[in-house]
Amino acid sequence: MSSPLNLAIVGTGIFATDTHLPTIKKISNLKPIAAYNRTKSKAETFAEKAGISKEKVYDSLEEVFNDSKVDFVDALLPVQFNLDAVKLAIEKNKPICFEKPIAANLEQAKEIVKLSEKTDLPIAVLENWSFLKAIKIIKNEVLPKIGDIIGFTYNATGPWNDENKYLATGWRLKPEHIGGFLSDGGVHQLALLIEVLGDVESVSGLTKQVREQSGTDDILFSTMKLKSGVIGTFTYGSAFGATDKSTSFTIFGTNGSVTYDWSPSLNKPTISYQTGTSGQTKSEKTLIEIDEVNTFEEEFKNFAEAVIKKDKNLIVVPPSKAFHHLAIVAAALESSSKGGSNVKVEVV
Ligand SMILES: NC(=O)c1ccc[n+]([C@@H]2O[C@H](COP(=O)([O-])OP(=O)(O)OC[C@H]3O[C@@H](n4cnc5c(N)ncnc54)[C@H](OP(=O)(O)O)[C@@H]3O)[C@@H](O)[C@H]2O)c1
Repeated sequence: MSSPLNLAIVGTGIFATDTHLPTIKKISNLKPIAAYNRTKSKAETFAEKAGISKEKVYDSLEEVFNDSKVDFVDALLPVQFNLDAVKLAIEKNKPICFEKPIAANLEQAKEIVKLSEKTDLPIAVLENWSFLKAIKIIKNEVLPKIGDIIGFTYNATGPWNDENKYLATGWRLKPEHIGGFLSDGGVHQLALLIEVLGDVESVSGLTKQVREQSGTDDILFSTMKLKSGVIGTFTYGSAFGATDKSTSFTIFGTNGSVTYDWSPSLNKPTISYQTGTSGQTKSEKTLIEIDEVNTFEEEFKNFAEAVIKKDKNLIVVPPSKAFHHLAIVAAALESSSKGGSNVKVEVV
């Protein structure tokens, strides 16, 4: 068996502790050997849980990148620092994966894309929703049955959660990243939409701030035109009053339709579809219950493979793809500032 890849975790906050560490521990060829956090005591606690030795709890990002034993860096920083981390990775020739959204704004995001395109170094944005098994089922098994795609409705809405642990993070309460929670969670939704239907060309949107704690606008109602010509609506926000959390994505075709529903009230996420060119000729509904994969494990396995094979082309979410997700949020915000006018999504 080949020796494991040694990784360093930088930004040992909530998500590093609750999700990355347990995920990394499950993957036999990954070994955490170093850590860094702005508040060092938190990195020390993290290191104990991760089995990282005290000497490898570093005082700066630079020290992490200078450690020759570290094969790659896993960064979970407030997103305005992603660009700095990527610059260091390139300077020190060390592969890096980092958490979404790609950056705090499109200028930074563009710089990351350009830097990543000039190097062979594996650089990935951790957008785990791109690894959903449901995407493959919809694309490969269902879309071919429903004729030409005409449109879609994408709805991800829910009540405000006073106990949301992420509200304790200062960088979210006073967001430097455009769209605050709209980009924080919205890029996940957009990753799913785009993996299934392709890139977005333009957006007309209206956004609003409902909660003071969001620090900026936190709900979005929009219509979108995709590059393929498909049109649809995209509604997103978790800042409403009491309501059921509702997450569903319906695609309408000339010969049927499909709905993917991953609302938490369901036992399992479902894909249901019917075929036929009219109400009169419609088939019975087919229901598929999905045993979803662990998307965090999948994204790490994907990145590890790219690092081992030294092949950045294996990466499922390179910066260029993650740029598009943030660019859609930026277009929606710009559209809203112009009263909902149609705005083209920026390309790098
Ligand atoms: N994929 C997902 O589903 C998902 C879910 C949640 C979060 N995330 C992503 O994970 C990342 C971390 O989020 P989180 O919720 O874990 O936030 P967090 O708990 O605030 O963690 C961020 C860490 O970065 C450190 N930090 C703050 N300012 C810094 C600076 N100037 N330089 C270096 N380090 C600094 C913080 O250190 P201190 O201890 O000093 O504050 C903190 O430990 C974000 O990119 C977020 O979008 C992804």
